[in-house]
Amino acid sequence: MNYKQVVASLWRHGNGQTADHVARLNELIRYATLAPSGHNTQCWRFRATDEAIAILPDLSRRTPVVDPDDHHLYVSLGCAAENLSLAARAFGMQGEVTFHAEGAGEVHVTLTPCQPERSPLFEAIPARQCTRSDYNGLPVTDQELYLLQGAGTGNGVSISLLTERPAIEQVLGFVLQASSRQIANRAFRQELEAWIRFGEHEALEAGDGLFARAMGSPATPRWLGRWLFRVLFRQGIENAKVARQVRSSAGIAVFISQADDKAHWVEAGRCYQRFALQATALGICNAFINQPVEETSVRPAFAEALGIVGGRPDLVVRFGRGKAMPRSLRRPVEAVLIP
Ligand SMILES: Cc1cc2nc3c(=O)[nH]c(=O)nc-3n(C[C@H](O)[C@H](O)[C@H](O)COP(=O)(O)O)c2cc1C
Repeated sequence: MNYKQVVASLWRHGNGQTADHVARLNELIRYATLAPSGHNTQCWRFRATDEAIAILPDLSRRTPVVDPDDHHLYVSLGCAAENLSLAARAFGMQGEVTFHAEGAGEVHVTLTPCQPERSPLFEAIPARQCTRSDYNGLPVTDQELYLLQGAGTGNGVSISLLTERPAIEQVLGFVLQASSRQIANRAFRQELEAWIRFGEHEALEAGDGLFARAMGSPATPRWLGRWLFRVLFRQGIENAKVARQVRSSAGIAVFISQADDKAHWVEAGRCYQRFALQATALGICNAFINQPVEETSVRPAFAEALGIVGGRPDLVVRFGRGKAMPRSLRRPVEAVLIP
């Protein structure tokens, strides 16, 4: 199959009400894998029983430079759990999510029978993407902000929506400062480069990672892409692009955890995922600009500027209306199953 055909086979609704029990579980897990993950590492594994599906961290897929405390890794598990929960409910199962902290921690989603409910958020799962394009600069309505606020709020996690230009410029200042430090860090550049899939062929072979075209770059053979990345991934060029993208956005969402632990990171992932699906349902795009929360030398000043006391800013996301970008891929369900 070529790239287009694989995208069509991944980003679609499926039949979770089939009588075949194993096919039903695999279908629920397929929905979970359509969630976002840092660098598209797909840092999850799934273990299914009759009562629940457990989502476990795949620590072989850590990104220790950009995510030294595995915060993004557990946020990604939360995103997958939210998709799984929405899909379970759509196919007549409870989908209640709990975090179990023992060992490396795992997330459970219950499968006890209930009335099926296909929510608008569930319907949006195959259409969602992290859209790294310029947006059209127009505001979103108060009603849309109200829906985004509700979707992105959770248990011990709040969302702050910034739509005034001075507040957006203030966040942009932190994004540029942190981005400059990341780009100056050789280990950061190397880790990022290792997760970029420069051409369609290598993207299809891996089924993971950051596809160049999804980030607005042309598809190239790996040798050429690497050369271009090393020449062009520079502070001046990158920061000009980020500034343009942020200024084209309608607003910025900041997700904040009350406590800085895995349970709250998973919850922040669930909140982000609902926010992203609600945005998709409204025709609103979003993309992460996480540099100020990733760069530990910038995060405290960023938190202080936003008036965050005692909590952790988890995620920074811009939103607005714009054109869709090429899709990212996923590995097949069989690759993430624990037998
Ligand atoms: C916790 C987390 C952190 C992320 N951080 C960034 C980021 O800082 N910048 C960015 O462009 N994308 C970021 N992403 C988006 C992923 O790269 C994206 O989800 C992945 O490439 C798959 O693309 P898709 O969500 O469009 O399918 C992040 C995703 C997650 C879940």
